[in-house]
Amino acid sequence: MHPMLNIAVRAARRAGTIISRSMARLDTVQVEAKGPRDYVSNVDREAESAIIETLLKAYPDHQIMAEESGNVGTSAFVWIIDPLDGTTNFLHAYPQFAVSIALAVKGTVEQAVIYDPIRDELFTASRGGGAQLNERRLRVSKCRLLDNALLATGFPIRDEKMIDPYLKSFATFLHRTDGVRRAGSASLDLAYVAAGRLDGYWEYGLHAWDIAAGALMVQEAGGLVGTIGEREELLKDGNIVAASPKIYDEMRAILLAAPLQ
Ligand code: IPD
Ligand code: CA
Ligand code: CA
Repeated sequence: MHPMLNIAVRAARRAGTIISRSMARLDTVQVEAKGPRDYVSNVDREAESAIIETLLKAYPDHQIMAEESGNVGTSAFVWIIDPLDGTTNFLHAYPQFAVSIALAVKGTVEQAVIYDPIRDELFTASRGGGAQLNERRLRVSKCRLLDNALLATGFPIRDEKMIDPYLKSFATFLHRTDGVRRAGSASLDLAYVAAGRLDGYWEYGLHAWDIAAGALMVQEAGGLVGTIGEREELLKDGNIVAASPKIYDEMRAILLAAPLQ
């Protein structure tokens, strides 16, 4: 394993321990609203501090881009961190959330970890080195037809004007596939596409920390990832489609045919 990925795994496991211990005493967790349907808790913050401490101990000159504490430092090496992806699920004891850590070098994501502390599933990827789940090699599904696909999505619930246009493509996917799931953790949705548990995934309005690790995971497992629209820079765009190669173009065409603006 690449030494930087190894450190990221250590950081993700530390955060995972903090999160899973806190699950046992959810009634003591302190929660604040950051915006409509957007929460942060002391557990998000504690997990993030543990990750940053672990990373900076090994690489004090690297830059941090973390969801809760923002940007620290300037470097060609940037750690992109979502300490708890799926906070709403966590706060409801709905067991679908993860720690997501990616390392971008000169703007390209090179290493990725997504850790589900409930199932003890560790997804890792290195650019050019493939993707693994608990050290077993991952491949995306062999799905050939959208009609046989199981998809996942996230709802654009924080920007209400997006909901009605979003529902147009959502309806098309309901008619055209075997099913659509909305589990509430973008990083795990992407990890599941990489693992072949899902055939495709799309969502609008995400941040770099939601998708940086998962996008590399899907690509390294043989899948395709892109933006929905003209902008090419995925981490800045935040509107993502990811899928097995045979259904990717059709999924993207359906999404482009029902633009949100
Ligand atoms: C959220 C989750 C969710 C997605 C939201 C994200 P958070 O992340 O990934 O699945 O639909 O858009 O913001 O806020 O729990 O880290
Ligand atoms: Ca997130
Ligand atoms: Ca988060």
